[in-house]
Amino acid sequence: LKKIGILTSGGDSQGMNSAIRSVVKTGINNGFEMIGIKRGYKGLMENDFSKLELKDVGDILYRGGTFLQSARSEEFKTEHGQLKAINNLKKAEIDYLVVIGGDGSYRGADALGKRGIKTYGLPGTIDNDIPLTDYTIGFDTTLNVVTDAIGNLRDTMSSHERVSVIEVMGRNAGDIALQAGISSGVDAILIPELEWDITKVSNRLKHGFEEGKTHSIVMVAEGAGKAEDIATLIREHTDLDTRSTVLGHIQRGGTPSAFDRIFTSRMGHEVINLIKQDISGVALGMEKNKITYHTFDEIFKSKDVFDKKLYEIFEDLV
Ligand code: F6P
Repeated sequence: LKKIGILTSGGDSQGMNSAIRSVVKTGINNGFEMIGIKRGYKGLMENDFSKLELKDVGDILYRGGTFLQSARSEEFKTEHGQLKAINNLKKAEIDYLVVIGGDGSYRGADALGKRGIKTYGLPGTIDNDIPLTDYTIGFDTTLNVVTDAIGNLRDTMSSHERVSVIEVMGRNAGDIALQAGISSGVDAILIPELEWDITKVSNRLKHGFEEGKTHSIVMVAEGAGKAEDIATLIREHTDLDTRSTVLGHIQRGGTPSAFDRIFTSRMGHEVINLIKQDISGVALGMEKNKITYHTFDEIFKSKDVFDKKLYEIFEDLV
C-alpha cells in the first residue's frame, strides 16, 4: 500500500477538518494508507505520526479548527529541520505529503519537494491571500462570523448613536474587510490595498448622522491600521461618540459554512486524483468554480489579485 501523509500548518481555519476528512476518506477508498501528522511541520520533525482510519475522520466535518492541530515552526525553515523531516518521512515510508496551510506552509512543502518528496498544497487560511485561487479554506466561514458579529455591534451602537470601528484579520490582505464590509452594509472600509483619507471618512460619517443615521460602522483590515487609532482620529475629526472593537481570533472559529465544506470536499477528491496520476509539487484551488492546480513556483511568482471592482461596487453602496 502506498502511504499518504497529511498535516495542517500555520494559522488554523474553518474547513481544515473537512479537507482532512475528504483527503483521508477518498484516499482510503482508493486503496491508500493514510497517515496523520500532528502539529504541522513540528510533528513532522518530531515523528508524531499515526495511521488514520475512516472512523478517525468521523464527526469532524462540521467542526472548526483542525483535529491534527497546527503550529508555526521556525526550526523547519532550517536545513537541519527539513532533513529531520525527510528522514522521518523516509523511515515511515510515506510516499506523498498533503499540506493544508497558507503561504508559509506552501514554502515548506516546496522545500520538501525540492528534496525529493511528492508534496501537495491545499489553501488553508482565512485571509484569502493565496494567488491562483478565488477562495481559501475558511474565508467564507470567516465572512459569516464577521457578518454576525457586526450585527450584534450594530444593535448596541444604534441604541447609543455611536460610531463603531471594527478591526478584522487578514494579515496584509483586505479581502475579509472588503467582503464582510459589503455583506454588513458598513459605511467605510479601510484596507491595505488602497489609500484612505481620514478626513473623507469622517465627513462621510458626520453627513450620515446629519441625515438621521443612528449609527455608523467603519471596517478596518488589520493590515491598514489599528481600530483604536482610527477611532481616536475619528473623534479628533468629528464630535461623534466612537468605540473600537478588535474581533480577533473569534474570526477563526465556528462550524465551517456549507461552501467551505463542499469546496474542501472537492479539493480532497482532486488531490487523490493527482496522486493517482503521479502529478506532484502542486497546490490546488478554485478558479471560476473549477478545482484547478498550479506548481508551487507558479504560485510564488504570481500576485494575489485584489478585486478592485468589488471596492467600486462598495463605494456606490454607501
Ligand atoms: O493568517 C491567519 C491569521 O489569522 C491572520 O489573519 C492574522 O494576522 C494571524 O493569522 C494571527 O496569527 P496568530 O494566530 O498566530 O495570532
